Amino acid sequence: MDDWKPLFTQQEIQSRIKQLAKKITGDYKDKDFIAICVLKGAFLFFGDLIRLIDLPVTVDFIIASSYIKNQSSGHIQIDYQMKEVLTNKDVLIIEDIVDTGLTLKYIIETIAEQKPKSLKVCALLDKKERRQVKVNLDYVGFDVPDLFVVGYGMDYENQFRNIPYIAVVDDAVKHLKHCNDNVR
Ligand code: IMP
Repeated sequence: MDDWKPLFTQQEIQSRIKQLAKKITGDYKDKDFIAICVLKGAFLFFGDLIRLIDLPVTVDFIIASSYIKNQSSGHIQIDYQMKEVLTNKDVLIIEDIVDTGLTLKYIIETIAEQKPKSLKVCALLDKKERRQVKVNLDYVGFDVPDLFVVGYGMDYENQFRNIPYIAVVDDAVKHLKHCNDNVR
């Protein structure tokens, strides 16, 4: 994996996360702060980000799915629901990547039913060009073009989540094929 060309290197990711954590720490002082990790894709981003947020934080998790291969099916389902009560809490949703926006819109609507005091979103990547529905992103790591990316928690067919940087899927798939050919 060492020879892949990262779209964002580990250093770039970590230094952007430091900036986001500083801003979030300032914004959530004296709030009843709950951070919600959208699994699976956001697990590494979430872990790195919350460790740099210098505040007491309650964490919870949600799993939503809509993707078949690398295409959005447009039909969102919640596979794991949060356990915390979010009423009157200051909730921050932490996402890996916002593409069509359909998943995030559904998650926002699900959480809003619990009437939190505030509800904001932090996404590592924003693939704006592909947006189909309007969703407000309060904190964004990086804008990305219309490319399918993997690594740093994000997958293609449930692989490549452990690549420590972010790469474009074409390169990743080529690499997997190369590995498989070598095994045979
Ligand atoms: P959306 O509903 O189309 O905005 O898609 C949101 C979810 O799809 C993200 O949370 C990811 O899990 C997945 N996704 C969208 N684009 C990519 C990508 O380029 N790489 C990996 N996962 C993606």
